[in-house]
Amino acid sequence: MMKTHIFAIAALCAGLTAGAADTLSSPDGKISVDFSLSPEGVPQYSVDYRGDKVIPVSSLGFRMKDAEGFDRGFTVAGVSRTSSDTKWAPVWGENDSIRDNYNGMTVQLVNRKQNTKLNVEFRVYDDGVGFRYLFPKQKKKQLAVTDELTEFAMPGDITAWWIPGDYDTQEYEYVRTKLSEIRHTGGHMPNLSSTTFSPTGVQTSLMLKANDSTYMNLHEAALVDFPAMHLNLNDTTMVFQSWLTPNIDGYKADIKLPFSTPWRVIMIGDRATDILASNLVLNLNEPTKFTDTSWITPIKYMGVWWEMISGGRMWSYTDAHDFDLATFDYSKAKPHGRHSANTENVKRYIDFAAANGFDQLLVEGWNIGWEDWFGREKDFVFDFITPYPDFDIKALNDYAHSKGIKLMMHHETSSSLPNYDRWMDKAYDLMNQYGYDAVKSGYVGNILPKGDNHYSQYAVNHYLNAVKKAADKHIMVNAHEAVRPTGLCRTYPNLIGNEAAMGQEYQGMSPQHVTILPFTRLKGGPLDFTPGIFEANLSLYNPNNKEHKRATLCNQLALYVTMYSPLQMACDIPEHYAEKMDAFQFIKDVPVDWKRSIYLDAEPAEYIVVAREDKHSDNWYVGGVTNATARDYTLGLNFLEPGATYHARLYFDGPTAHYDRNQDKYIITEFDVTNADSLPIHMAPGGGFALSLVKQDAATPAK
Ligand code: NOJ
Ligand code: CA
Repeated sequence: MMKTHIFAIAALCAGLTAGAADTLSSPDGKISVDFSLSPEGVPQYSVDYRGDKVIPVSSLGFRMKDAEGFDRGFTVAGVSRTSSDTKWAPVWGENDSIRDNYNGMTVQLVNRKQNTKLNVEFRVYDDGVGFRYLFPKQKKKQLAVTDELTEFAMPGDITAWWIPGDYDTQEYEYVRTKLSEIRHTGGHMPNLSSTTFSPTGVQTSLMLKANDSTYMNLHEAALVDFPAMHLNLNDTTMVFQSWLTPNIDGYKADIKLPFSTPWRVIMIGDRATDILASNLVLNLNEPTKFTDTSWITPIKYMGVWWEMISGGRMWSYTDAHDFDLATFDYSKAKPHGRHSANTENVKRYIDFAAANGFDQLLVEGWNIGWEDWFGREKDFVFDFITPYPDFDIKALNDYAHSKGIKLMMHHETSSSLPNYDRWMDKAYDLMNQYGYDAVKSGYVGNILPKGDNHYSQYAVNHYLNAVKKAADKHIMVNAHEAVRPTGLCRTYPNLIGNEAAMGQEYQGMSPQHVTILPFTRLKGGPLDFTPGIFEANLSLYNPNNKEHKRATLCNQLALYVTMYSPLQMACDIPEHYAEKMDAFQFIKDVPVDWKRSIYLDAEPAEYIVVAREDKHSDNWYVGGVTNATARDYTLGLNFLEPGATYHARLYFDGPTAHYDRNQDKYIITEFDVTNADSLPIHMAPGGGFALSLVKQDAATPAK
């Protein structure tokens, strides 16, 4: 880490009384936070942006199951301030260097009557505010949290892009409404472990627009040993309150003191692109403690996968059901003949992936147990170490390695967390034995133990433990259906992907989805969205599948740039790429790690245009996506190096292309450009464009 300066002023000004405020401003002075105490001694904060109150006075605090005195009755025992301006280099990322520049303030609160202590730490950056609670050592050694009382008051009935509150899935399409309309358009907070229900519950990250020059986003950072935070709106007062995911016993968290909560994050910017470019969530996470990160690499992969997702073939090997995995004899079972992960089929994919420069091939359905995995809440559902009889694990890994690629492991846990915990060491050891260095894990279905939730403290701890254990064995993790990411990939850069969103595998979703995800789900970390559908008609795989992909082929290409991830899949089957090798060229060329990213233009759920410079060459790649509305966009190239010539290859929608028909109508043109040029580009409904710009005098050719 390169430190430019860091200093701390311990300005202990004891005795702040009710009403008095302590102010902390961002380094550029545009954002400021006021901390105060209400007459009842309730801690409060508010946020100003360019002089406007963007977060009016909002309360802070907790209610505990086993203690009073964490919600009111406080006085200020001291305030300390700090400033920091450093730079750090992510192991992989949208940029090779990130500035971490903030002013900080910690307010020490005491409740003398109840003999409790609570500190609140604020950091104000130019792109927003983070704050967290620190429970210092005190009389109580541990506490049971029943409610977090943190509020985020809204500056009015503003626009939000949200998905409903749910303690088990984020797999929803986003809805844009005024806050007052959430109640009538599907906001809810279903709760599997208690009877509490709210029609105004939403998840983070919550994208907000107060006016044409004030965009905000509410999320959390560094979710460790705590339940995920949802937000519940009081739509009379327009105040959101933190609503933590309950545990199996119906309360929220057990904490051992001293303890610090995750950061509560408010991103703020003039333009929508400011939110896309914000590194606030990453900056609020701890630097990595890994000293050796050489084993962590960005990955472009294919998968023995889409033919199963689209219903063509299967994960399972037999039609048997309801058996005990410990005693079931697969060698005597009759195969149903539609098992995808058989040695011959996997070899076919290895050949194609290796010939086209991919790093890895994911194989799902390689291991025993898939007959019983779904909807059965079976504890011993998988062992993660025994291949099906027709999957030759040694021969296939050897074959892949001989061709210069690796196989990617798959661990579907079926949400049986205790079972995965029991097998995890052996499962990772098997990976080490055969040379796998990345695992896609999955948590489909109801969490076991029964009654717990996907985003509870217990489950959150499980997911992070799986990542930490993997790191011990030099394994990278891409977890699906785990808790939404909160920037922990900075601390644990082997967490190279997550799903925690409605991914591409949902086949009929609306074209706007890809224009909102980078504003929401991606603020916490990369998304394994699995782009690259070249054949939109899914009945070709399976005559019973009546869905089609609602995106043009150029939209699919653009996603490799607009949807940042160090882990990118080309998810379609080899045959469909082989038919369109000219368009497939973009997927082969596009890097998965970047020197610099510039969000050129965007509006949530409308369109996004971003340019990124390859980390390992001087070449640039630009992607643009639009929602269901066609757009004619003029792309200025002034981000290119002055005086240099670049060879451009532009992939754009044909005149008849549309997300519901003619999805594969695309045009490719090639020409030379300089930074003085601008390109008029047509984007079809649900369309987009992809552009590679290879520097002509560059010593390093395009990858
Ligand atoms: C859901 C995942 O998102 C998907 O990619 C995977 O194929 C299935 N679970 C089976 O594990
Ligand atoms: Ca999923």
